[in-house]
Amino acid sequence: MNDQSRTTKFLKDYAPPEYLIKDVALDVSLAPKGARVSSRLTIEPSAGTVAGTPLVLDGEALTLESIALNGQELEAGRYTLSPGKLTIANPPVGSFTLDIVTRCDPEANLELSGLYLSNGTYCTQCEPEGFRRITYFIDRPDVLATYTVRIEADRKTVPVLLSNGNPVDAGEIEGTGRHYAIWHDPHPKPSYLFALVGGNLASIHDTFTTASGREVALGIYVEPGKEDRCEWAMESLKRAMRWDEERFGLEYDLDVFNIVAVSDFNMGAMENKGLNIFNDKLVLARPDTASDADYTSIESVIAHEYFHNWTGNRVTCRDWFQLCLKEGLTVFRDQEFTDDVRMGPVMRILTARLLKARQFPEDAGPLAHPVRPASYIEINNFYTATVYEKGAELCRMLQTLIGKDAFRQGIALYFERNDGTAATVEDFVSAMADASGRDLTQFMRWYTQSGTPEIACSLDYDPHAKKARLKVSQVVPPTPGQTSKEPMHIPLKVGLIGANGDELPLKLNGEAVPGGLLEVTEREQVFEFENIPAPPTPSILRDFSAPVRVTSSLKPEQIEFLMIHDADPFNRWQAAQTYATDLIASAARDGLDLGPVSGHQAGRLAQALEPTLRDETLAPTYRAETLKLPSESDIARELGRNVDTDAILAARETLRKTLSEAMAATLSEIYEATATDEDFSPDPDSAGRRALRNAALDLMTATGTQEAIDRAMRHYRNATNMTDSIMALSVLSHIPSDECDEALDDFYTRWQDDPLVLDKWFAVQARAGRPDSVATVNRLLGHSKFSLKNPNRVRALIGSFAMGNPSGFNRADGAGYKFLAEQALKIDGFNPHVAARLLGAFESWKTLEPRRQAHAKKALEGLASAELSTDAYEIVTKTLG
Ligand code: ARG
Ligand code: ZN
Repeated sequence: MNDQSRTTKFLKDYAPPEYLIKDVALDVSLAPKGARVSSRLTIEPSAGTVAGTPLVLDGEALTLESIALNGQELEAGRYTLSPGKLTIANPPVGSFTLDIVTRCDPEANLELSGLYLSNGTYCTQCEPEGFRRITYFIDRPDVLATYTVRIEADRKTVPVLLSNGNPVDAGEIEGTGRHYAIWHDPHPKPSYLFALVGGNLASIHDTFTTASGREVALGIYVEPGKEDRCEWAMESLKRAMRWDEERFGLEYDLDVFNIVAVSDFNMGAMENKGLNIFNDKLVLARPDTASDADYTSIESVIAHEYFHNWTGNRVTCRDWFQLCLKEGLTVFRDQEFTDDVRMGPVMRILTARLLKARQFPEDAGPLAHPVRPASYIEINNFYTATVYEKGAELCRMLQTLIGKDAFRQGIALYFERNDGTAATVEDFVSAMADASGRDLTQFMRWYTQSGTPEIACSLDYDPHAKKARLKVSQVVPPTPGQTSKEPMHIPLKVGLIGANGDELPLKLNGEAVPGGLLEVTEREQVFEFENIPAPPTPSILRDFSAPVRVTSSLKPEQIEFLMIHDADPFNRWQAAQTYATDLIASAARDGLDLGPVSGHQAGRLAQALEPTLRDETLAPTYRAETLKLPSESDIARELGRNVDTDAILAARETLRKTLSEAMAATLSEIYEATATDEDFSPDPDSAGRRALRNAALDLMTATGTQEAIDRAMRHYRNATNMTDSIMALSVLSHIPSDECDEALDDFYTRWQDDPLVLDKWFAVQARAGRPDSVATVNRLLGHSKFSLKNPNRVRALIGSFAMGNPSGFNRADGAGYKFLAEQALKIDGFNPHVAARLLGAFESWKTLEPRRQAHAKKALEGLASAELSTDAYEIVTKTLG
């Protein structure tokens, strides 16, 4: 760690680079004892750089062997090495070349940033600041260069050599047993998009012909023996390539597109130009090894990384504060893709649920930050739900406000103006403003103000004037460093529903309201709808048109009414969620039982759910979502303070049991009707039927009776695909029984040598909300197949426990916090990035009841007094507040 590493960097301090690197020629020689990297950099001063300004290059974990300027070896006195930096005090005027030879040690690189070995395969991860661990460089995204890369390695053990761009040449090095490959990427790119792979890999190949008729060679590289799990990723890639042409007119721009799957990877995947590197979990799928959820995330992440080729690569970010420029926009694009090719109306439910589960707590806690942060200590800590998911919501709101056509024109204008450059959020929003003729000045606050806006709505009906007045007020709550806020520009979709369930036409000042879209811009606004014959029921925030919280004063009968009559599928689903949330939250607030009032209401909930569940015209996925109750974390968020996770679990289980009994007939009909003996197919309809059947199973087994256990065991034994096996296992894992142990053993015996499937075995046990869960995860830490070094395994066991088992992690005696703190500290010693992510599980500690809060605080303070990486230091100190 160097002196610089714990300082706060500010957006307001941005200054353009003093020198630019225009061209890079790398020669990388891979060998077990370390990699040797020779780089030739063509450098020139930026316009306005004063002659003699020192040239400062970034470098980390490198051994410098030699350095030459314009071909002349530099003596020791002409440059200085300091932690993280190489400085050349007095570079020549005008353009010059630097030749630098360094060594690095991929085998010792457990941080998995820079060049490292994953299960014997050489690979790289450079975003955000990993390239400096490969060679000395001006490692920032606004320095764009063309790259030519020569890779050399042992022919037998490392037969595959890949880098960015197009292949140029390859051959043997006579008499050495070594070979080489040369790649050239004609598109100028920042260093974070550099990639290199060397290994003994198997591959599958295909081609894609672009709209303008160019043929692109597609390749997916995996560990030998896994070739039969690549087909879905390849299909997904071709679907994504076609979709981007059709929806946004964006075509691929190189002759080849390669994807490599590696088993040790800190994140999901990486969009390196022409050579995407993936966590193998997001590539490999076969019906017996991957669930429908895996198929869906593979499709969406393959698309996400592919879409970055334009939004991220062709136009990149000026600095890391602008991360949402590429991530928010690309997440929005991948969501639209999944909506089109797979999910339809259910998509909005899934994205809203994810946003509420991951981003809302972030926005309400000590780590809250704007979509475009104003400062950071460690940029790796800002690959957050706020930057990604809320960032995507901002793009969606822009599209809602200006319309789909203008949005597409805005995208075209954005590329026309910024192609080949490093841009800012302002460049993006101004393209949207210019394409639509709209003033988006106020909208910019979404990028700078953190916190989830709270909208309160109330409706008054005036029977004489036949008017319905909707009063809307907004408050953006204070967040760390931001005490008072300006009102936001919020697209609020609404509808009014008549007593017979009919949608009432909306008229404001004599004008129709297209799509029911209101624009809320003030702290308080009144919308007066005319010609409303009788008191209507309002449906607010349809389609989840903005990332806000809504409070409305609807009575339970009105929510029941919306569950049945709302024409907006999102709000019909939301009504059921709200109803159940209110029931569980009020029970959890008071004690453990639902009580007579709520018991009665649970019965009414069951009744109101029936029409949707039985409606065969609705997509099965939609019906499945309707059956899923709000999660324990949803309830904790709703309570917002004094949270007792045991009370939540108990109240939720009681409601599940009540519903299970009240709806027994419907559930078993659904369960039987969705059975099939067809072969597995990942298509949306088949996946939807499995989802519905499994949701029914989950609720049916809430009774916890022997009959329920037997049914789950039958489901497990009869399963012909991973979706059904893992669901059965998950259901069983919540109820301690011999059957549960038997199924877990069976699963282990079958899959012990398959890392991705074995991760599911670890995860399912870590998530089980049982009194013995801390003991279980502690025991699994000692399992021979467990390793702290593999991020997927760490996330499967420790991550699933901390983020997916609220009652276990928040155990009243603090044992869950102690467990996480100890493991995160160990991991922090070699992989700070993964450790810091895990510690995010503490983000809501201030909402807990006092006893749990005290335990969490103690665990955090213990960490704060330990020796931490910069990454973990930032998370721990900010979380403590
Ligand atoms: N740009 C990648 C994406 O598609 C994420 C890479 C983040 N890596 C990291 N070490 N922070 O979302
Ligand atoms: Zn991304």
